[in-house]
Amino acid sequence: MSAAPRPLASGFEALDLCHQQILDHLTRLTALALHVEAQGIDAAAQQQAADIEAFFSGTARQHHLDEEKTAFAPLLSSTDAELATLVRMLQQDHGWIEEDWLELAPQLRAIAVGNHWIDNAEFQHNVEVFHDLYLGHIELEEKMIYPQARTLAEARRAPRVPQ
Ligand SMILES: [Fe+2]
Ligand SMILES: [Fe+2]
Repeated sequence: MSAAPRPLASGFEALDLCHQQILDHLTRLTALALHVEAQGIDAAAQQQAADIEAFFSGTARQHHLDEEKTAFAPLLSSTDAELATLVRMLQQDHGWIEEDWLELAPQLRAIAVGNHWIDNAEFQHNVEVFHDLYLGHIELEEKMIYPQARTLAEARRAPRVPQ
């Protein structure tokens, strides 16, 4: 007899889990930059660069789409104008993160295949900018947006009591 399939994580659980994965990959990215600075590009750096590039090009981009649907969209129609402004700012951040990523991704792909053409100072700078922007973005989401979006989703799910 086969085991019953495990239920999929709910929308918000999946978003939380993904934040953990993003934070983990940001730490790995910083470690990679230090490694490249100190030891240059070797086999370990190539493998790390390939893994990190694949994660941010795939899973992290999908996270932004899921988040905009699950957490942002319901809050954009909120009557709380300050909250709606904050959500729009975070949405704009997704655009900045993508722009920074488009600078950094080719450098990681070059490291992954052992190309040494990258400008190390520029690589270090791009890593720092990407890391700091993403970290601040996640902190703000977890503190200011996720709790409100969760509360709203729960309120919408709650059965209506007949008057
Ligand atoms: Fe986000
Ligand atoms: Fe997020």
